[in-house]
Amino acid sequence: MRTTSRGLFAALVGGVMLFAVGCGQESTKPSETKATVSKDAPAPAAQTPAEKPVEAQPAAAVGAEANTPSKSENTGKMSVEKTPYGKLPSGEAVDQFVINNGKGLKVTIITYGATITSVEFPDKNGKSANITVGLDSLDDYLKSPPYFGATIGRYGNRIAKGKFTLEGKEYKLATNNNENHLHGGVKGFDKVVWKAESFEKAGEVGVKFSYVSADGEEGYPGKLESTVTYSITAANELKMEYSATTDKTTVANLTNHAYWNLAGKGTILDQVVSINADGYLPVDAGLIPLGEVKAVKDTPMDFTKPMTIGSRIAKVEGGYDHCYVLNQKTPKELSPVATVYDPASGRFMEVLSTEPAVQLYTSNFLDGTFSGNGQKYEKYAALCLETQHYPDSPNQPKFPSTVLKPGETYHHLTIHKFSTK
Ligand code: GLA
Repeated sequence: MRTTSRGLFAALVGGVMLFAVGCGQESTKPSETKATVSKDAPAPAAQTPAEKPVEAQPAAAVGAEANTPSKSENTGKMSVEKTPYGKLPSGEAVDQFVINNGKGLKVTIITYGATITSVEFPDKNGKSANITVGLDSLDDYLKSPPYFGATIGRYGNRIAKGKFTLEGKEYKLATNNNENHLHGGVKGFDKVVWKAESFEKAGEVGVKFSYVSADGEEGYPGKLESTVTYSITAANELKMEYSATTDKTTVANLTNHAYWNLAGKGTILDQVVSINADGYLPVDAGLIPLGEVKAVKDTPMDFTKPMTIGSRIAKVEGGYDHCYVLNQKTPKELSPVATVYDPASGRFMEVLSTEPAVQLYTSNFLDGTFSGNGQKYEKYAALCLETQHYPDSPNQPKFPSTVLKPGETYHHLTIHKFSTK
C-alpha cells in the first residue's frame, strides 16, 4: 500500500546519491523555539575521542553506579501491575503500568501520552538502573517535556510549513516548531490520555493502548483509530507495535520518543553506536529534508561501523538530529536498525524495525530544565532512535509514502533487545 513509490525511490537513491564531504555544514540547527542559527555558525568546541571505529567489546571494568541501587529482580515470573498515577486538571485519571519479565527487564508506562517513564535493566554485574529519561510525576509530564518516552502521532518528525495536499485538497496543520509541524502538533498523541488494557501470554507481558483521534484533530483529515502495544518478552525484548485505520485518506507515521542512556547517568558521548544506514537526509535550516539522500561514507554521519557518539559530534553542527535511510532489503520487513553499547556498564541494545528510517537525536536541546530519576537532564544526556518514515513525506513525492486510505491498516513494529557483554 504505501510501498508503491519504493522501487522508484530506490532507483533515485542509487542514482542521485551524492557523496558528502563536510556534511556537518549542511545540517544547520534551529533552536526549539527561536529562529534559525546561521549556517556559518562555528562548530562547538571539540571533545573528540579518537576517530576510529570502536569495537563493541567490554572496556576495563568501571562498573557504572546504577541509579536504582537494587539488584535486578530475577524472579523468573512475568508480572503486570496497574496503579493510579494522577489526575489531569480536567479531572481525567491517568494510570501507570509496570511490566516485569522476571529476568531483569522492567518497564513503566503511563496512560498520559502512552509514555514510557522508565526502563530498568541490569548491568554486567547484575545491578539495575533506569536507562531511559523519565520524570518523577504527572505534574512534570504536564510541563511539556521534549517528548520523553512518549508515543508520537499522528506524524513523527516534521511537516514543512505545517501543510500538505492530499487528493487535491490542501490541509493546514497546527504549527509548533517555528513555521513547521513537529511530532503531531500542539496537542499530539503525547499529550492525550490513552485507553489501556494489559495482557499476559506465553513469554510476553504488555499493555495495549488505544486512542481515537477525531477527524480534523491538529488539522489532519479522517478519524484515526490508533493502537500501540508495549510489551516485554522472556528474551529481554521491548516490543513497540503500532496500528492505525482511518475513515478518510490521511497520513500516518507513529513512533516512540524514548531517550536512551545505557549508563543510566552522565552523557552518551562515550557510548558506541552503529546504524544500519548508508545514507541520510540532509536538511535545511528548519530541519526539513532537502529531498536527496546523501552517502554517509567518509563523513561524521557514518555509523555503519560502531563509533562513539562523541568521536565526531563536534563536527556535526548542533549535534546529531538526522534521519538515516535504513539499508532495508524488503520494505516493511523487520530489519536491523541500530545498536548501542555502553562499555562501562556492559549494557547493549539492538534495535530492529519495519520502518524505512530512523532519526538519531542526541538531545542537543536539553539544557537542564527537566529533572527526574535523581538527575538534571543536560545536553547529550541521552540519545533517541526514532524509527519512522522520512520527515516531510507528505510533501515529498519521492519519499516512501505515508498515505493511509480507508480499508488499509498502518502497521509498525520496533523491537529493542537488551543484553550485557
Ligand atoms: C525530535 C526532533 C528534534 C527535537 C526533538 C525534541 O527528535 O528531530 O529536533 O525537536 O524531537 O526536542
